[in-house]
Amino acid sequence: MKQRIAVLVSGGGTNLQALLDKEQAGGIPSGEIVLVLSNREGAYALTRARNAGKAAFTVTRKQAGSQEAFEQAICRILEENGIDLIILAGFLAILSRDFTDRWAGRIINIHPSLIPSFCGAGFYGLHVHEAALARGVKVSGATVHYVNEIPDGGEIILQKAVSVLPGDTPETLQKRIMEEAEWILLPEAAEMVCRKLQENGGK
Ligand code: GAR
Repeated sequence: MKQRIAVLVSGGGTNLQALLDKEQAGGIPSGEIVLVLSNREGAYALTRARNAGKAAFTVTRKQAGSQEAFEQAICRILEENGIDLIILAGFLAILSRDFTDRWAGRIINIHPSLIPSFCGAGFYGLHVHEAALARGVKVSGATVHYVNEIPDGGEIILQKAVSVLPGDTPETLQKRIMEEAEWILLPEAAEMVCRKLQENGGK
């Protein structure tokens, strides 16, 4: 049975697009992207989802009223749709331990650096690349990892290094890391984890 995948997003959704394209090309044979859920209204990722014929949901923390209600609303959608695997693809909301425990071994995230560098609370999006450039590293990259209660602290699944070049800005570095690492690693990890879930029903 194909594993049923939910992709959680907050923004532009280029990593979501990489997953959709890979699925379309037959590159995720063990999984099926069933729905996309955004915690931001009007996120462009939702348009990408609809264009690919996927169900698209929005649940905001503000609408929900509390962290607990926010996570309950997300869980309801995931359960109603029989989701097996959650992929965080630029999903910038924090998830509590209750949530990560409930989905242990069934949530993965893409982070735009080589963990354990430039990760944890406050390190998201362009901030990660600003920090890497400020530190003067010559190599950065991307990491796909399991999600647990520690931000960016779960077991590492795949990593890929990308060179930092003279004259890089946070934007040019972000683009290179997306093109050379993120958009390749995330679909690859999705297939790996789906296959693993198919084989032994978990980690
Ligand atoms: C990506 O670079 C992703 O790695 C990063 O946000 C961007 C989302 O872009 N995620 C984090 O920083 C998580 N800590 P996208 O919406 O175009 O995929």
